[in-house]
This record gives sequence, structure tokens and C-alpha cells, in this order.
Amino acid sequence: MMKWWQKTIAYELYPKSFLDTAGNGTGTIRGIIQKLDYLASLGVGAVWMTPVCRSPMIDNGYDIADYCSIDPSYGTMDDMKELISEAKKRGIRIVIDLVFNHSSDQNPWFLESKQSRDNPKSDWYIWRDAKDGKEPTNWRGIFGGSAWTWCEERQQYYLHTFAAQQPDLNWANPEVRRALYDAANFWVDLGAGGFRIDAITYVKKPDVFTDGEPDGDDGMVSVHDMTANQPGILDYLHEFKREVADGHDIFTVAEANGVSADELKYWVGKDGAFDMLFEFSHVNLEFKGIETWCRPDPWTISDLKRVLRDSQDATKDNGWYPIFFENHDKPRSIDHYFPSCSNPLSAAKALGCLLMTLRGTPFLFQGEELGYRNVAFPSIDDYNDISSHGQYDFALSEGFSEKEALACVHRFSRDSARTPMQWDASENAGFTAGTPWLPVHPDYKTVNVKALAEDPRSILNWYRKLAELRRDHPALTEGTWIEVLPDDPDIIAYRRVCDTEDLSILINLTEDRITDLPLGSCESILLNNKNDYERGCLRPLQCVILKM
Ligand code: NOJ
Repeated sequence: MMKWWQKTIAYELYPKSFLDTAGNGTGTIRGIIQKLDYLASLGVGAVWMTPVCRSPMIDNGYDIADYCSIDPSYGTMDDMKELISEAKKRGIRIVIDLVFNHSSDQNPWFLESKQSRDNPKSDWYIWRDAKDGKEPTNWRGIFGGSAWTWCEERQQYYLHTFAAQQPDLNWANPEVRRALYDAANFWVDLGAGGFRIDAITYVKKPDVFTDGEPDGDDGMVSVHDMTANQPGILDYLHEFKREVADGHDIFTVAEANGVSADELKYWVGKDGAFDMLFEFSHVNLEFKGIETWCRPDPWTISDLKRVLRDSQDATKDNGWYPIFFENHDKPRSIDHYFPSCSNPLSAAKALGCLLMTLRGTPFLFQGEELGYRNVAFPSIDDYNDISSHGQYDFALSEGFSEKEALACVHRFSRDSARTPMQWDASENAGFTAGTPWLPVHPDYKTVNVKALAEDPRSILNWYRKLAELRRDHPALTEGTWIEVLPDDPDIIAYRRVCDTEDLSILINLTEDRITDLPLGSCESILLNNKNDYERGCLRPLQCVILKM
């Protein structure tokens, strides 16, 4: 029996950029309430909101100062309750982002912990003495610079996998885990429909902290390579499942960078700790190891096919897959997968078809349904994203010029995913009456919800059509996934098959016309992004769903 979250479409919403009803230039929860009908029109049944808890916003909410609160810039707890209940009326559940690897350095837990070496919370974070007057290890944080910051009060360093203002919590301390589970249960009691759990692979630290082989001219090594996925981590995560998720009609999807397809079985499925896992192999094709923007590797369609196949196969008999091509940390998918494409609309439709027809729950990211493109701000100073600054500085330290470093930021910055929603062609795209916290994309006069809703051939209406197909064709949700033409270097082709239906999905990811494909005849064409379909041929960037 399928669960509700396997049949639905999830939407990742970046609240800061969705709709501002207060005129401050940042989105509000009331803005989300206003647009629930829009989300329902996309067939969405779950909305994952990136964090809205009280936060100094060093990392736009991924630095939480109080796990059971709402940041005043977003509104109040009453607004949140209203959102949950209004969403429910429309068949939408609200999914909360749990940022449990680290808190903000302004969280009262950290403020207490840093006071002394013997206060009640002294062991709630990861503290170490200096080594030879310097950092305890040579680990580089994910946003750049040392992963250690000195604390005058304690005369010790604390560890932060991300920014200095995001100290890592000490999961080895049972009191910390209890406090985190209590916070999660606060949201369950409030009516949350599920959780997205942030940066989960980092919560268990190694028993012994040692220096690693440097991977850059700065003499440091990425903290990821030294601490991610430590043995025993799953014990904690099973405990989280028992203490929070079990017994509730909610789903959990954990962000787990570095968990490969063959390890998935330990993380999801009948014996797994979570319902789904975001792993990144298909969106990090250009990074064989750690994500270093100035050193991208080339990749091919065959590489993309291989990693998609691996995750489909890994969850075939056990587990479930969250399908995504965009999120708030990644560049826009058209620019990512089709950097020099002459027909971005066809490319966006082809990707949309893939997103909505692979086996799993699709996670559509705010703006993806409008075919959003990357931004290229003129100077690094125009970027808000903390990782863009870290990557820029790292590129300079590796000998790249300012121009080259900025080009990397243009290609990979997280700000491209975070520009405000474009609702209409009015000033600031109808996002705010104030000054938007991040500039609106210059294409907003033509790329906006109002204009695209009126155009039957738009990407927005394409997504609505795909949502209807998912609703009406059980093969697209419950059907098995069977790859066709696995060795073809240009097209992705597969069948979705259930008792009542056999559908073929063919997607040409190139700008070439492909002929002579050994394909059977079909009964009808359910979807086509070109005017016609000739058996065995695909036009450039053509995608079709065929009923066989
Ligand atoms: C992953 C989140 O998606 C990202 O936005 C954030 O910066 C880091 N985790 C740290 O919380």
C-alpha cells in the first residue's frame, strides 16, 4: 500500500524569497498562505520550507537560535499554525527543515556552553584545546577557512563544519539528542507533515581527531573527508526515528551528501532510519570528490544516466527516492545541465518530464516551474550566499584571477536559486513593495507566474500537465522502472509499468536529431514537447510519454 507522500509532488519553498506581505523585502509566512492555491494548482501535496526559526541569518536560517520559534522577519507562531491548517484544507502538508548538526552561535545553548569548561551545557558542542598554540586539526570548513574557531572565554576551540557562527552540536551527549528530539516533537505536535533533516552525515564525529593530507595550497583538508559518515552514525539516526518519526503519519527525508547508492539500503527502506535520502551524485557530476567550484570536471549524459540508474536500482525493491534537479544550494538546472542550449524551453520541459516520471517523489524547487535561470551579479560583493564568498576566496588562494573566480561563482552560486519569486511584471516582480533582499532576476517582465499561466505552451502549464498525468496514470507513481537503451549515449529512455499500464518515456537530452531507435509502436501519446512524434526518432531535446 503506497503512502501519501509517495504519490504526491513535493515543493521546496525558500520562504525568504517567496512573497513579502510586510514590505520589508523578505518573504513572510502570510505570503505563503496567500499562495497556497497556486501551490495546489501544481498538484503539490507537501511543501518543504527551508528554516523559518529565529536566526541571525548568517546562513539564511540554517543557523538556528531557537528550534521552537519563528523568526520575526517571517511572522509569528500563529501565522505558522494558520499556514499548517490552511494548507491542510487544500491537501498540502508542511514539511519542517531540522538543522540538527549545528545551531547558531547565538543559540542560548551555545551561549551557555561557551561560558566555561564546567557549566551544565559545557559538553553540548565540540570543544578542543589548542595544539601547539594553533587549531586542533587542519580541517577546512565547508564554507572555507578553518573548521575551528577560538573562544576567549573557554580558552578552547570549537568545531564548525560550516560557518564559524554555526557551531556543531555534540551528538555523543544524550542530553543534546534529547533536546533535539523534543524540538522535533514540538513540530510534530504542531501538525508538521514531515521533516527534511539537514547535513545529517556529519552528526557523528570520529573518535580521534587527526590531521588529514592537505587538498589545497592552504595546507588544509575538507572537514567532509575527515568526519562524514562515521561508523555508528546510523545508531543515532535510528534513535531519531524511534523518538520522533515512528507512529506518526509523516515522512522524513534526510540530506546525506556522500552516501552512495549502494549504501542507501542502510539509510532508507524497511530497515532504514529515514523514508528518503537526498544524495547528490546527479547534481554534483562535475565534482568527483569535494565540491570545489574552481575545479569542475567534465561529464557526459552517460554519467548522468549511470547515477540515475544507480539510485533507481538501489531503491527498486526497498526504499523510495526523492527526485530533484534543483534546490536552494544548486544552480538552476537549465544552466547546469544545458549550459549553452539554444532552446531552453524545450530543455526545461525535457528535465521536467524526467523529474516527474522517474520512480520516486518529485521535489520541485521554487522557480523551477517557471524555468528560472542563473543570475550573474557583476561583483562578488553583490552576492549574499556565504559559500559563494568562501569558494571565491579559495579560488583566489589557488591562483585563479578575480575574473576566473567570479566566473565560478556565476556558474555555481547558491544565490541563483534564491532570487525572489516572480509573480507578475510589476515592480520587483510583485514579490515585495520594499527593496528585495536579493535582486530580482532581470528577466521577470516575461518570466513570471501571471504571464506563464496565460501561455498554454509555457513551462508552468507543462508542469501542471505533468502533475495531471501523475494523478491519472498509476504507472507513474506505483509502476516499476525499467530502463530501455541503457547504452545509448544521448537519450534517457525507460518504461513505467503497473498491472494496468505500460508507459514509455523517451527523452533526448541533446540538440541533435536522433533516428533509428529500436522502439515499439504505441497506442497513444500522452505528452510531447514537440508538435509531432515519428516512431524511432527524437527531435532535438524532444521528450514524449507514450502509452504502449
Ligand atoms: C545544507 C543546507 O541545504 C545548506 O543551505 C546549508 O548552508 C548547510 N546545510 C548548513 O546548514
